[in-house]
Amino acid sequence: MAQRGFFISFEGGEGGGKSTQIRRLKSVLRKNKIPFLVTLEPGGTPIGKKIRELLLNPKNKNLSERAELYLYEADRAQHVEEVVKPALKAGKVVITDRYADSSTVYQGVCRGLGVPWTEKLNDFATEGIYPDLVIVLDVPETVGLARVRARLSFDPKLHGKRRVVKMDRLEREKQSFHRKVRKGFISLSKKHPKRIALVDATQTPDEVSAQILGEIEKRWRRKLS
Ligand SMILES: Nc1ncnc2c1ncn2[C@@H]1O[C@H](COP(=O)(O)OP(=O)(O)O)[C@@H](O)[C@H]1O
Ligand SMILES: [Mg+2]
Repeated sequence: MAQRGFFISFEGGEGGGKSTQIRRLKSVLRKNKIPFLVTLEPGGTPIGKKIRELLLNPKNKNLSERAELYLYEADRAQHVEEVVKPALKAGKVVITDRYADSSTVYQGVCRGLGVPWTEKLNDFATEGIYPDLVIVLDVPETVGLARVRARLSFDPKLHGKRRVVKMDRLEREKQSFHRKVRKGFISLSKKHPKRIALVDATQTPDEVSAQILGEIEKRWRRKLS
């Protein structure tokens, strides 16, 4: 289905730099007066925020893997209907911090629920609305985890003072899980090279931004031509 607007998702493990790069892309779009909307999964809607709380609360240790997948898909269905579809219809650039490929990798590959099932549920939840471009920010899991730990103990808003922040349920997963996440995104990007751009996110933030803008321009031209 041809859709107006331009849809970009940012994917990858924790600490790859999704938030950082989304912030930078926002300022480029703002400078160029291109209408955009930045959103996220899970939690891009009021209902989604409640689902996010269930998903990320470390107290919910006994959440079943299938129930977890359905909660992500419920969040996604609400997100597409309420936020993504209307913004694309209005011709905006829509940028989301995580989308369907996160379920494919985290639930389908890492939890072992299977890629085919996860993709079926993704299709149902999204009504087939997929990004024009998926940016996977790739870093070795040790780098990603070190960045997350540094981020947890340092908050610029507190002028360099340490803050006490508990890691959420996913961030507590073992390092081997994070390695599987990385491998999952790499193999997914090899399977869908047109849709997914794998970006080496160990580079400096400037270098990563430049590569992302290059990928966007390439797809943008293809879409308009
Ligand atoms: N290219 C980079 N090189 C070094 N540090 C980075 C880079 N990009 C982001 N960071 C830092 O790493 C931490 C995690 O980045 P963040 O954007 O929050 O990642 P994500 O949203 O993917 O989890 C932050 O403290 C951020 O400042
Ligand atoms: Mg982030």
